[in-house]
Amino acid sequence: MSLGPNSPEARDAASQMHPMVNFRAYEKTGGLVIDSGEGIYVTDNTGKRYIEAMAGLWSVAVGFSEPRLRDAAAAQMDKLPYYHTFSYKTHGPSIDLAEKLLSMTPVPMSKVHFTSSGSEANDLTCKMVWYRSNALGLKDKKKIIGREKGYHGVTIASGSITGLSRNHESFDLPLDRMRHTSCPSFVHFGLPDESEADFTQRMLRELEALILREGPETVAAFWGEPVMGAGGVLIPPPGYWEGVQAILRKYDILLVADEVITGFGRTGKMFGCETMGIEPDVIVVSKQISSSYMPISAIIVNDRFYQPIADESARLGVFGHGFTASGHPVAAAVALENLAIIEERGLVQNAADLSERFAAGLAALAQHELCASSRSVGLLGALEVKSWAGAATGTAAMTISAAAQEEGVITRSVGEALCFCPPMIITAQQIDDMFAGVSRALDTVAAQRAAEASVAAE
Ligand SMILES: Cc1ncc(COP(=O)(O)O)c(C=O)c1O
Repeated sequence: MSLGPNSPEARDAASQMHPMVNFRAYEKTGGLVIDSGEGIYVTDNTGKRYIEAMAGLWSVAVGFSEPRLRDAAAAQMDKLPYYHTFSYKTHGPSIDLAEKLLSMTPVPMSKVHFTSSGSEANDLTCKMVWYRSNALGLKDKKKIIGREKGYHGVTIASGSITGLSRNHESFDLPLDRMRHTSCPSFVHFGLPDESEADFTQRMLRELEALILREGPETVAAFWGEPVMGAGGVLIPPPGYWEGVQAILRKYDILLVADEVITGFGRTGKMFGCETMGIEPDVIVVSKQISSSYMPISAIIVNDRFYQPIADESARLGVFGHGFTASGHPVAAAVALENLAIIEERGLVQNAADLSERFAAGLAALAQHELCASSRSVGLLGALEVKSWAGAATGTAAMTISAAAQEEGVITRSVGEALCFCPPMIITAQQIDDMFAGVSRALDTVAAQRAAEASVAAE
């Protein structure tokens, strides 16, 4: 792309440091300027329309043009645009949303604390875990176990629990209290001749060995996404979560389920914990809670988690933590309306009903000569493509993702996986359209590679 003088692309490249880019490359290429949205589609500043096959950042459940969310925000702006929840103050939207969340969780929960992003929520949960251990007089019980390829955000604590090297390198992360256990993706980490059942047992043995090596009395909590998202849509094998929970119970280790992507229907049930049979102490949610129309996240905790923290705040006189925007009334009002829409329109059932068509579409693409396999749960899936000899890992998926964008489908590549997480309002026909665009992209890339190979052979 050439950056026309004074174009939005040039002004952007000259003025912003964007997340998750190579800054030097961005200075030259700029970014795609998205101008408007409607349903599952977004339109760029040249008028080209795309299917947003990633729902933005795994988050826009109700699509990009929901008037009820605009109206909910406007009504709350008119009534009370801002108030805080510090120091014995509160307001209606935060009360209603906390009650709503407690009524939805698959296991009994006790309290909700609001934050504004997934990273903040995980960061604070981490602080709460330490605070709780201190409250119980367990001064050494502070270590946290995340998983390789797990993603929990990028702040100092949440970024440390994240198990992706790109989020650690040169940031001096992870913190020295954090550990990472193996990633339970059989497709990527199964050994030759190892069955999936044997792989699961090995994952569990490795977790237990890590806990024993560290000393169970030093391990406070285990963090996991029910299905890993940003690591490349990695679905754990049957028996994995059951086995993990047995180990955590044995050593009195808390379980934090990071449902920032899987929450509110993505896996075909309201929570990923239901799909995977998880009974956590803490559930962290964000993204689809408000379809990302407003930034908001929540930490939902059970009584065993809450009570010692409450005691400690009484002993100290205050829980010495708070964000200005915690439980922001406009964000809370939008989240409430968004959850009402998800329920009224049966979007969780829509994800469940369309999951077979979604899986079948991915499986059909996996037959393409450039592809290796596919996987999905609900409306969360990935197409694993074959890596290219001599090219850096990720080149193939990145090239195909760029070709898909040309074809009007925005996907996301992670390693050699092309990820899909469309808005939950998607229809069967739109799923077919989405995969048809990707199919055309695969053919284009295959033809380019064949042409390059024949030139090289001459
Ligand atoms: C599972 C999970 N946890 C936490 C986060 C971090 O959320 P945020 O980007 O809002 O900080 C993400 C973001 O993708 C996520 O997928």
